[in-house]
Amino acid sequence: MLAEAVGVIWHSQPNAVLDAGCGTGNLLARLAAPYIPKLVGMDSSTEMLARAEKKCPAVQFVQAELNTQLPFEESAFDAIACVNALYAVDDPNKTLAEFARISAHDATLVIVTPKQNYDNGLILKAHCGSTKPDEYWRNLHSDLAREELLMREALQDEVTFQKMRSVVDVNRRISTNMRFHFFTGPELRNALQLAGFSVIDLRETYARQSHLLIARRT
Ligand SMILES: C[S@@+](CC[C@H](N)C(=O)[O-])C[C@H]1O[C@@H](n2cnc3c(N)ncnc32)[C@H](O)[C@@H]1O
Repeated sequence: MLAEAVGVIWHSQPNAVLDAGCGTGNLLARLAAPYIPKLVGMDSSTEMLARAEKKCPAVQFVQAELNTQLPFEESAFDAIACVNALYAVDDPNKTLAEFARISAHDATLVIVTPKQNYDNGLILKAHCGSTKPDEYWRNLHSDLAREELLMREALQDEVTFQKMRSVVDVNRRISTNMRFHFFTGPELRNALQLAGFSVIDLRETYARQSHLLIARRT
């Protein structure tokens, strides 16, 4: 998923890139290359930013809220990535309008966000590298005993199992948060068009449970 987003951004040969909701800087660490002059990561979380700063010393980090006006000039970026953060904002349309304001003409926007009714079990299957058919993993989050059993079967060592356990718990909390926004493809496409972007591509990623949308500022 991140590799795909990185590929799209590199391909656009940008001068200034923003990772909005950068978390611990996984995307920026992969993007960090001498030929992108300006790389900026923003997130509201102090803890996430502290970890990102350690990982990406050459990147400029800004603590800011995606729910308010972003602390950047108009047309400041020619590429913006927002990976698994748009679902958590109060009003995605407002956040997308802000992305449009700080995007230069023709800027590339890459959004990764979970699909409406996505299945956490299939994401877990991908994380565990299981070769069992999808049917075994579908709707797994609703049956904790079965979830544990399949994870134990797929993951041989205890350390990996415990790491995966925390990923599973976070994913469960995200998918059951009623305030979060999970879009259908047409909804996401419309929201981008409304904000002033033209959609270049909309495809599936992350075990086919997330959208990967590529758009251009019109
Ligand atoms: C699931 S993490 C994804 C992090 C990173 N993009 C990645 O893919 O590894 C979501 C990130 O969005 C940030 N976030 C959520 N709501 C936010 C908001 N309203 N303003 C700024 N950052 C926000 C969280 O702090 C968190 O770091």
